[in-house]
Amino acid sequence: MTTHVQKAAQVHLVPVTEANRAQVTALELAHDQLDFVASNTESLEEADLDEDARPRVVMAGDGVVGFLMYEAPQDDDEARIYRFMIDRQHQGRGYGRAALLQVLDEIAQLGHIRHISICYAPDNEGARHLYRSAGFVEEGLDEDGEMIADLVVPSPTDDR
Ligand SMILES: CC(C)(COP(=O)(O)OP(=O)(O)OC[C@H]1O[C@@H](n2cnc3c(N)ncnc32)[C@H](O)[C@@H]1OP(=O)(O)O)[C@@H](O)C(=O)NCCC(=O)NCCS
Repeated sequence: MTTHVQKAAQVHLVPVTEANRAQVTALELAHDQLDFVASNTESLEEADLDEDARPRVVMAGDGVVGFLMYEAPQDDDEARIYRFMIDRQHQGRGYGRAALLQVLDEIAQLGHIRHISICYAPDNEGARHLYRSAGFVEEGLDEDGEMIADLVVPSPTDDR
């Protein structure tokens, strides 16, 4: 019997290495998305100089489909996701949502984080829709005109 239940997209996150770095910098956005996020080349150069940066490659099976970067300093209870992209050819297949859920889980597992913030251009409807549906609440524009949204991480004691 054939079932018609659609499976959620499966992705996993891995660190950036010398072996996958070139595949990350080769990922592309659509022309009208280029202003929404720094290039992966810039982000990786930034990560090389910032020990708090946690760059992650989004893998679908053996394929590199996206990139994200966050920080979660040990002396803070707030994490910040500040880069997030899925290659133009792989968008619209659920990889973005699956990668977001994976990174939220990875951050929650660190144990010391109570808030996760994310920022995006106010006219980025795709990002707004995705982050809102994951529970992020918009807080307003920062000094650079970027929208900031926040997600509260449940405390391990909340459901006692
Ligand atoms: C935002 C982004 C990461 C989403 O990745 P994706 O793999 O295409 O997302 P998904 O296929 O998992 O879709 C997630 C949801 O967003 C919605 N969505 C995606 N693009 C959209 C758009 N342009 N307008 C409205 N909704 C959109 C999808 O419909 C889906 O919602 P649904 O499940 O309720 O139908 C991707 O479009 C991207 O890389 N954009 C350019 C870079 C960027 O804007 N990064 C975020 C700011 S840092």
